[in-house]
Amino acid sequence: MLIMPKPRPPVPACTRVDPGFDAGSGADLRFHGDGELAAGLVDLAVNVRTDPMPAWLAEPLTAALTDLARYPDPDPAREAVAARHGRPPAEVLLTAGAAQAFSLLAQALRPARAVVVHPQFTEPEAALRAAGHRVDRVILDPDFGLDPALVPDDADLVVLGNPTNPTSVLHPAVSVAALARPGRVLVVDEAFADTVPGEPESLSRRRDLPGLVVIRSLTKTWGLAGLRVGYLLADAGLVDRLAAVAPLWPVSTPALAAAVACASPTAVAAEHAIAHRLAGERAHLVRHLASTPGVRVAGNPASSFLLVRVAHGALLRDRLRKRGYAVRRGDTFPGLGPDWLRLAVRDTATTDAFVAVLADVLSTV
Ligand SMILES: Cc1ncc(COP(=O)(O)O)c(C=O)c1O
Repeated sequence: MLIMPKPRPPVPACTRVDPGFDAGSGADLRFHGDGELAAGLVDLAVNVRTDPMPAWLAEPLTAALTDLARYPDPDPAREAVAARHGRPPAEVLLTAGAAQAFSLLAQALRPARAVVVHPQFTEPEAALRAAGHRVDRVILDPDFGLDPALVPDDADLVVLGNPTNPTSVLHPAVSVAALARPGRVLVVDEAFADTVPGEPESLSRRRDLPGLVVIRSLTKTWGLAGLRVGYLLADAGLVDRLAAVAPLWPVSTPALAAAVACASPTAVAAEHAIAHRLAGERAHLVRHLASTPGVRVAGNPASSFLLVRVAHGALLRDRLRKRGYAVRRGDTFPGLGPDWLRLAVRDTATTDAFVAVLADVLSTV
């Protein structure tokens, strides 16, 4: 018997939805900031902190290297992460980086209508497409604030980031929470939540919102991108469904040791101090960019990177590379184009040197 798909209700006029966007004709969803790097370039393209590892993290991590004959035991990390977010361990699933959480969701769920709110990190959409799902896009216009009414009512899977990569926009928790409802899985990618002092808009402690999945990364602030460690928080039933499609022992013993350390009160206090320092460094970058003709900073940046709009972005990016700086192209993010560039927030000396070169290059393009 041929089953005809049910017609979809019309999309509200205010929504910019790209229905079932054909990824083949669009941006390269699997391009990431590390694709910008080359030897000798100053890295403003990857949002991973590169400061030396603190002893409270380095010690358990290296100690775990003497315990590799045993299969990994995720329980201590589960308990530590659960305590950090005020939830039971059954609501935590450790993953090989936040990125693995997107694959698990794509494999475990069978959404009738998956919607990804862009511009945002492209991996959730890439994972959904790779698993054979059709994906609709809600594209936010500059300055990229979220209006929950833009998301179609019949979406049973919604994915968004907070704060959002690459816009650095921090949506109010109340707007994000308004997207949760029975019958819908709401995935909030909080990979950069710890870059905001006190995490005021995080939903990681909310156990009352139906279908909520919060995804966290430990690779950014703690410089562990090569270790692959992150986790998701959701109700225990959903955690079990996601765990059921995970590969065996997806998170290594050293990565689990890092997760325990990064959930400790020491780590949370350190995160807080880092986020405060970052806010100062970001304000410094914003001030310098504001006084650079030809550059506009998008929105009110809240994370460890920000998005700028320039003219002749592709040429500018190329000239910056020739002058020693790698910045992240914006045109692989749905909703952006070549005149958008993402810049990592670095220490003030790096910012000063970069902005001087940027101003010089801008005067020649
Ligand atoms: C917004 C966002 N979410 C998730 C990830 C994946 O992080 P992880 O290294 O934990 O897999 C990234 C990595 O760039 C990201 O930018």
